[in-house]
Amino acid sequence: MLLQVEGLQAQYVDAQGRVVRAVQGVDFAVREGSLFTLLGPSGCGKTTTMRCIAGLERPVAGRISIAAEIVSCSQRGVFVAANRRNIGMVFQSYAIWPHLSVFENAAFPLRVSRARHAARKIQDKVMHVLGVVGLEEYAQRDATALSGGQQQRLALARALAMEPRLLLLDEPLSNLDAKLRERMRFELQRLQRELGLTTVYVTHDQSEALALSHEIAVMRDGRIEQVAPPREIYERPANRFVADFVGSTNFVDAVALGPSGLHRCRLGTPIGELEVQVPRTLHAGESMLLSIRPEDIEPATGADDGFTTLSGVVVQKVFLGERLDLQLRIGERQLLMRAHPSFAVEVGQSLRVRVRSAQCIDVPAGA
Ligand SMILES: Nc1ncnc2c1ncn2[C@@H]1O[C@H](COP(=O)(O)OP(=O)(O)OP(=O)(O)O)[C@@H](O)[C@H]1O
Ligand SMILES: [Mg+2]
Repeated sequence: MLLQVEGLQAQYVDAQGRVVRAVQGVDFAVREGSLFTLLGPSGCGKTTTMRCIAGLERPVAGRISIAAEIVSCSQRGVFVAANRRNIGMVFQSYAIWPHLSVFENAAFPLRVSRARHAARKIQDKVMHVLGVVGLEEYAQRDATALSGGQQQRLALARALAMEPRLLLLDEPLSNLDAKLRERMRFELQRLQRELGLTTVYVTHDQSEALALSHEIAVMRDGRIEQVAPPREIYERPANRFVADFVGSTNFVDAVALGPSGLHRCRLGTPIGELEVQVPRTLHAGESMLLSIRPEDIEPATGADDGFTTLSGVVVQKVFLGERLDLQLRIGERQLLMRAHPSFAVEVGQSLRVRVRSAQCIDVPAGA
């Protein structure tokens, strides 16, 4: 593990003198060469965690080690200064130096580095990273004469130029327009994989997290709710919060009617009877919460062997270009369903659908 964070706690004292417990016991480890994402709503403690790793904040408890070196340990009073941690960072409020050109901004960490770099090498490295973020032709321009998005890319180039052992990126794409953001997302992923840069990435954008990460930690109120690879976070969320925060979903209460196979169970729900995969044998009468993703509801085709079909009425339709979102009323409930944009359906029409899969969330513990 290149980075290890154990029992991390950090707090602030606000203007009224109240203690804000921003991080309340966070543990995670990041494998060398992998991209690890902290994902969570605004104020959940992502930036504070990053600042602790960077050495910009002194934790009140816990231990942080980078490449087996303890850089912070409250118990033993160890605290390695930020500039001695060899970490590259791009923070939400990216700081570019206004009195320097684009080139000199990117070259700065190399010029001041203790490892001396030859001028020729700096030139090559800087032009390469500027190329990566698409700022080659701006190299000689004043850094203040860049747009917000360009400044953000410059901050990224500067962090990359250092070839740090650990890269911390806090919402590095937040100021870019949708198109550029998508392009940079691919670019960043390619670069991270190619260079094997161990990266901690912060975002509150779930699709960014799913697209980029090897592992995701979903945070809430200063704590981690689940750590897992993207697909597992999406397909097997540990609880209601994770299911709700990552992607869109429909929650449906269910009661077990009886087993229908190994780890399969028939469930009674307000939208009808469903047969789903369950994490353990459920006894008739046990209740649970189901999460049904909108893309797991699809028009029934007639050949629906093994799938439960339900019938509903379309109450709303929203065309989103690459998909069609439908609000479907089934019994007393309204569910979000996601269809291919070519799917022809009108509001008011009745529709037979099938549920491909549903995840059990908050299954009561014990047998
Ligand atoms: N300097 C500060 N003084 C007091 N409270 C602070 C300070 N900085 C952050 N906080 C509080 O600590 C908590 C965590 O903040 P943090 O910046 O880590 O959140 P975040 O997850 O990065 O949110 P966002 O997605 O909005 O950037 C919040 O409740 C925030 O209000
Ligand atoms: Mg933040």
